[in-house]
Amino acid sequence: TSTSLQHRVRDLSLAPAGRHQIRLAEHEMPGLTALRRRYEGQAPLAGARIAGSLHMTVQTAVLIETLVELGAEVRWASCNIFSTQDEAAAAVVVGRDGTREDPQGVPVFAWKGETLEEYWWCTTQIMLWPDGQGPNMILDDGGDATLLVHKGREWEQRGAVPTAEEGDPEEWRVILETVRSGLVEDPQRWTRVADGIRGVTEETTTGVHRLYQLHEAGQLLFPAINVNDSVTKSKFDNVYGIRHSLLDGINRATDVLIGGKVAVVCGFGDVGKGCAEALRGQGARVIVTEIDPICALQATMEGYQVARLDEVVGQADFVVTATGCRDVVTADHVRAMKDKAVVGNIGHFDNEIDMAGVAQIPGVERTEIKPQVHEWTLPAEEVDGEQRPERSVIVLSEGRLLNLGNATGHPSFVMSTSFANQVLAQVELFTRPDDYPLGVHTLPKALDEEVARFHLESVGADLTELTKEQASYLGVDVAGPYKPDHYRY
Ligand code: NAI
Repeated sequence: TSTSLQHRVRDLSLAPAGRHQIRLAEHEMPGLTALRRRYEGQAPLAGARIAGSLHMTVQTAVLIETLVELGAEVRWASCNIFSTQDEAAAAVVVGRDGTREDPQGVPVFAWKGETLEEYWWCTTQIMLWPDGQGPNMILDDGGDATLLVHKGREWEQRGAVPTAEEGDPEEWRVILETVRSGLVEDPQRWTRVADGIRGVTEETTTGVHRLYQLHEAGQLLFPAINVNDSVTKSKFDNVYGIRHSLLDGINRATDVLIGGKVAVVCGFGDVGKGCAEALRGQGARVIVTEIDPICALQATMEGYQVARLDEVVGQADFVVTATGCRDVVTADHVRAMKDKAVVGNIGHFDNEIDMAGVAQIPGVERTEIKPQVHEWTLPAEEVDGEQRPERSVIVLSEGRLLNLGNATGHPSFVMSTSFANQVLAQVELFTRPDDYPLGVHTLPKALDEEVARFHLESVGADLTELTKEQASYLGVDVAGPYKPDHYRY
């Protein structure tokens, strides 16, 4: 019965507030609305059982309900311990027609402020369907759901979960323990889940990177669609979404004026470009760090100084990491910072800033200003031969992605471009498996262009149409695609 709808969220009484926000978000998500209309009555995802691991926000609620309208059964967890909007999670569980006492929506396992143990418990729950069957599709953001299935199966086959080694990150220990205790209940769990999965669609740069690595190592178990590298994803969400939500995160966390200050942005890829533009737009003097000469040169062409963090860290009022790399800001960098400098990460994982290293600085003290905002006070000490007085730095979201930890992530319109790609990727992979053999694929350009088209009208853009003669001169079809695959936008 519906009362048995499994879920774990903060508080179902938040559902009406969530529902209002979802309703307003739908208005700003023309891509998802267009897909609902397009597939009305067709249910292309009938039979799909989707395990979703993606920030449980208001926008994601619209994605989930679109997948359901297209016929899918769905279970959901967030892909970050801080990113859930509790009212959105509650509204998805209750559903449009349900009540708090009789929820009719989708099983969601997510709340803001999970522990790592709870996080991996939630990720496990999306794989365990009540009928004993597993999911047959994964929708992932950052690759944690995919990692759990791959590692779980690998360790099951091996007959043992490895023991954590000295120096392993805390989270790795939690993953090992989660799988170990699960195997006691069911020693074939992950093999069965892995066998049932037809494919995964992956949202973000870091998750996509993991998938290519897995495939190169010959370990990928099922086909994957790289949603991130649809142009209408990475050249919109990663840039313009960040341009909005970076400032939202910094402002809600600190409310420190950005104008007139020095902001260092580590990484000048898609996300870094959005960060730099946003900070400059507020009147900050922006300095970029890069390891790639092309991106470094691009930054100079935009007028940004390019420097090494070691050299400029002492001038910075803000340091933002956007690299997808590890150990970008070290404890020594933090020691060299100005009093009350604000440090945050907007890349996917929390290893860009070495928070474990910061916690080990002798005499360091951590004060909670409010949830996801911490002041780290460093004792007076000698740094590089210079006497430094007691000072403190403000760390956002404990080094986890600050736009979702301190604010509510990207706004709906840009998530509509991302999630329209997600829905198309799920439909493609589920309904046309022969077109997507084992490997990592991007969506065909025609679909990418279609996603863009969905969004033109609501921003009042009137597209020019090629004449037949013009099209044949360019060597393209009047209806597109308009660019070769190597075009970079
Ligand atoms: P990208 O690959 O386009 O950019 C990363 C840039 O960082 C590259 O240009 C690279 O050369 C540079 N880099 C790498 N190591 C570096 C180092 N040690 N120092 C300085 N620069 C370094 O990737 P993209 O799309 O910009 O994504 C960056 C991260 O942000 C990823 O983890 C991605 O998953 C995440 N992301 C987060 C979002 C959010 O809402 N918070 C949204 C989209 C992506």
